[in-house]
Amino acid sequence: MRLRNKVALITGAGSGIGRESALLFAREGAAILVVDVNEHAGGETVVLVKQAGGRAAYCRADVSKGGDCQQMVARAEKEFGGLNVLFNNAGIMHAKDDDAISTDEAIWDLTLDVNAKGVFLGCKYGIPLCSAPAAAR
Ligand SMILES: NC(=O)c1ccc[n+]([C@@H]2O[C@H](COP(=O)([O-])OP(=O)(O)OC[C@H]3O[C@@H](n4cnc5c(N)ncnc54)[C@H](O)[C@@H]3O)[C@@H](O)[C@H]2O)c1
Repeated sequence: MRLRNKVALITGAGSGIGRESALLFAREGAAILVVDVNEHAGGETVVLVKQAGGRAAYCRADVSKGGDCQQMVARAEKEFGGLNVLFNNAGIMHAKDDDAISTDEAIWDLTLDVNAKGVFLGCKYGIPLCSAPAAAR
């Protein structure tokens, strides 16, 4: 078990790669904070992890919002006592995301807010807790 006694926060864990990572990391011993903007999907992942014998909790957060990212990191600390693995996985490929001429500015902004700013915010608030010495947790 490569992640025994570790805590992993996975954004976009309600689906696809994020959900499969949650199941894999839990099998390797990690407690998982399942983060997703979709409450139903996030809740399903928690159930799947628990059914497989793992530990998981759900936190709703929109990774494009700084306050949400602060709150998801605080939740990892409150729920599981710290953070060891930060997977900024959440991302979108909007149906209206097309070429430069036909893509609306709002779709461009949304895509960058989630796919780029979301990673920045996850790192901004998550890395300090990942880097905190165990004694300080
Ligand atoms: N699947 C691929 O082939 C592929 C290829 C290259 C990159 N990626 C990237 O990998 C990541 C996961 O891909 P996937 O195929 O599993 O995607 P997916 O659409 O299956 O899952 C993405 C999850 O992110 C959540 N999400 C969307 N916006 C969010 C937000 N603002 N805040 C929090 N959660 C949000 C969704 O609710 C969903 O559960 C994405 O960043 C995607 O761009 C995927």
